[in-house]
Amino acid sequence: MVGGNGIKTVGLAPKMDSGFYGKDIISVRQFTRENLSYIFNIADEMRAVVRRVGSTDLLKGHVLACVFYEPSTRTSSSFIAAMSRLGGSVIPINEVRYSSVTKGESLPDTIRTLESYADVIVLRHPEMGASQVAAEYARKPIINAGDGVGEHPTQALLDLYTIQSDLGRLDGLNVVMAGDLRYGRTVHSLARLLCLYDVQMTFVSPEILRLPLDVMNEVKALGRPVRETYDVRDAIADADVLYVTRVQRERFADQAQYDELKDYYVITPELMENAKKQMIVMHPLPRINEISYALDSDPRAAYFRQMENGMYIRMALLAAVLGKA
Ligand code: NCD
Repeated sequence: MVGGNGIKTVGLAPKMDSGFYGKDIISVRQFTRENLSYIFNIADEMRAVVRRVGSTDLLKGHVLACVFYEPSTRTSSSFIAAMSRLGGSVIPINEVRYSSVTKGESLPDTIRTLESYADVIVLRHPEMGASQVAAEYARKPIINAGDGVGEHPTQALLDLYTIQSDLGRLDGLNVVMAGDLRYGRTVHSLARLLCLYDVQMTFVSPEILRLPLDVMNEVKALGRPVRETYDVRDAIADADVLYVTRVQRERFADQAQYDELKDYYVITPELMENAKKQMIVMHPLPRINEISYALDSDPRAAYFRQMENGMYIRMALLAAVLGKA
């Protein structure tokens, strides 16, 4: 929506061609390579600031509303930490149970309420497309922190930032994504975003958890080479990045089916003997069983670095959207 008060500068989920100021962040489809290097450079600066002095007052006087209709540890707390380290404040609504949503308030009314107090809203919701709906009603920027099985764009940004930081490049890599590719929204965003680079993607899953056709078709339409397999051992051998996801229990109607699939892949040190010495293992977390704890001390295990990077990326995004980058 073209907003009043000059707050939103362009329409719904616009491309970031003219910068991030006042924009919604709904889908990775909005980004270009230039946008990503811009955000990654700011994230590098944020990392340096945090390591040197802990915080700045760049967003002093600004308020973020963090509204989570689904559970979250990393996304919500890294957004809160990001805003705090930039000198701003946060309205944290982590348990919509304790808000007027329980009384039956609609999403548009909740959003309208929060934007009268806050300058930017981070929203996680169980329905695909919810952030887009919120953005239609809101005059202030909406940042999608996960919309059901749809997208998780800020996670994909931090995933790419981690690959770039750890491996020093994005072009020319073989990225293997394994696990629940059907319901895992982080994979839907990451696969789309990787299309901006010259990468080979390999999707590893049991038949029933294959990547949705619409995402696969988008990747293929952009001319990216893709492979699909069930065989994680074979796929690992030439991976530069192994991106593992948990089976998304909350998306299954049939719990017995979840129980059958939940331990389909477990990445162990023994399995990793087949992998390159120079590669990384990633996971958006939380992990259930899919990566053995014994792998945590392997230097190739990047998932804890990935989680820290999330805060720097979110600091960069908040500063950019509020026009202070
Ligand atoms: C992911 C999510 O919520 O989609 N978690 C996260 O934000 N780091 C992944 C998941 O829940 O499996």
